[in-house]
Amino acid sequence: MRVLGIESSCDETAIALVEGKGERVRPIWSIIRSQADLHSQYGGVVPEVAAREHVEILAALVREHLSRDGAGIDAVAVTYGPGLAPALRVGVETAKALAWGWKKPLIPVNHLAGHIYAAWFGEDEGPKWPFLALLVSGGHTELILVRGHGEFFKLGETRDDAVGECFDKVAKMVGLGYPGGPRVEARAESGNVEAWDWPRPMIKEDNYDFSFSGLKTAVLYSLKGREKEFDTPGFIEDVCASFQAAAVEVLVEKTVKCALAQGVKTVVLAGGVAANLVLRAELTRRCGEAGIEVKLPPFQYSLDNAGMIAAAGYFLAKQNAVTGEALLAVKVDPKADLHDHNNNQQDHKTDLPDYAKN
Ligand code: KG4
Ligand code: ZN
Repeated sequence: MRVLGIESSCDETAIALVEGKGERVRPIWSIIRSQADLHSQYGGVVPEVAAREHVEILAALVREHLSRDGAGIDAVAVTYGPGLAPALRVGVETAKALAWGWKKPLIPVNHLAGHIYAAWFGEDEGPKWPFLALLVSGGHTELILVRGHGEFFKLGETRDDAVGECFDKVAKMVGLGYPGGPRVEARAESGNVEAWDWPRPMIKEDNYDFSFSGLKTAVLYSLKGREKEFDTPGFIEDVCASFQAAAVEVLVEKTVKCALAQGVKTVVLAGGVAANLVLRAELTRRCGEAGIEVKLPPFQYSLDNAGMIAAAGYFLAKQNAVTGEALLAVKVDPKADLHDHNNNQQDHKTDLPDYAKN
């Protein structure tokens, strides 16, 4: 089965084709057009600007890469949420037009489920059930127990900022601009992780939740009145290294604790922050010590891409595919939660998923 994926939830416009067979899925091609340079002048993503860009880029990608009759494509998967409403709408309406015109099923995919399914693009088979997913992106920091295809159970989440957002804010504080995560990581490489002793919020608490606003505020207060030192060689590097070490330590410790308590043997890393090499290495090391296997998404499928959406679409087609006129009613859900997905499954008495009825 070949599934076309479309992703437009934030500032990446992406399309991809994957082939699924049994429990395996492989990318055939995957194209990502980032709008990061455009948004960097505003210091972050402007939803309406992103949507306008998605319209232009997606139209060009469809013209360049897809045949008029959709030959060789069995279904169209698209991100319906969570994300920026105007941006999501561009992808969803494009996918609806293609699926309707080609008379193929439309598979609405939760963006977070997509990130988790990037783990299937590794060298070998996908992760074994049940597994624990550490989902870390610009808008989310969650620990999700995954019991089977589409069976997501949130065990913990951030009570305030997402960790990716925190990387972005720290980058801003020291003048590194947008997007912050990769820039903080690059500067941290030559910095001293012990230069600043910042808090590891909630690391010892007996739950699986996170909090990053305290760490962010600690960095902010530490830097107050010291702007002149930003030019001192090594200063920004030390800030980045110390902040990154604190954030990674909390993520890794809580994930290992949760995996051991739940008795799961596999941890999957997912979301844009999964591109961080220090997080990848630390999670692998600590899970290794605890006898837990780690599945990392290939680097190019860590950040937003359409391959992961197509892969999730392939595996969730049975549960989520919408056909015929019903597909025209599918709507975006900017605040979609993975829990809604479970609820949809339980209420699956009608043809339309809940999010299509709004
Ligand atoms: O998943 P993603 O591409 O978009 C969302 O769904 O949010 O994640 C983007 C987030 C941003 O906050 C970005 O700064 C962060 O992932 N990020 C990183 C790295 N690369 C991207 N954070 C830390 N280290 C990185 N190398
Ligand atoms: Zn994402």
